[in-house]
Amino acid sequence: MDLLVVKTVHVACVAASYTLFFLRGVWLLQGSPIMRQRWVKVVPHITDTLLLASAVALAIGIRQYPGTDAWLTAKVAGMLLYIGLGMVAFRFSKTLRTRIVSWVAAQLVFFYIVAVARAHSPLPFIAQ
Ligand code: HEM
Repeated sequence: MDLLVVKTVHVACVAASYTLFFLRGVWLLQGSPIMRQRWVKVVPHITDTLLLASAVALAIGIRQYPGTDAWLTAKVAGMLLYIGLGMVAFRFSKTLRTRIVSWVAAQLVFFYIVAVARAHSPLPFIAQ
């Protein structure tokens, strides 16, 4: 498949993943009944699986790999942290404070990953 198509899918999944993550946080904090709807639990798994599959296809496509290329190592580490913080925010938090802190921290990690992707550097905020 054309690499540009895969990249478009990847970036679309990035946008969908973030939008859902943000909205689920808002709905959770509001105690909204939307959080009990089945699609809210199912759709993030679909977008995140597609996000990961397109990431693997892109890495193979440009022949750069986590463990070899530092920016991709940083992306994978960031993605694991994003998933972990999301699990704390949506599943394991016992207090409102840890819920909000982990939800906000996950979003900061998310924007770090986007910056890494754009700069192809694990230190995107430092002039090279
Ligand atoms: C939440 C997780 C992720 C986010 C937010 C994200 C974000 C992005 C964005 C915004 C781009 C487009 C960059 C640009 O063209 O300017 C991109 C491209 C890319 N991403 Fe991801 N990504 C994520 C996960 C991953 C993972 C885990 C990998 C590791 C295999 C990966 C590998 C790639 C590759 C290889 C490209 C193409 C870069 C290029 O063509 O120059 N992504 N990503």
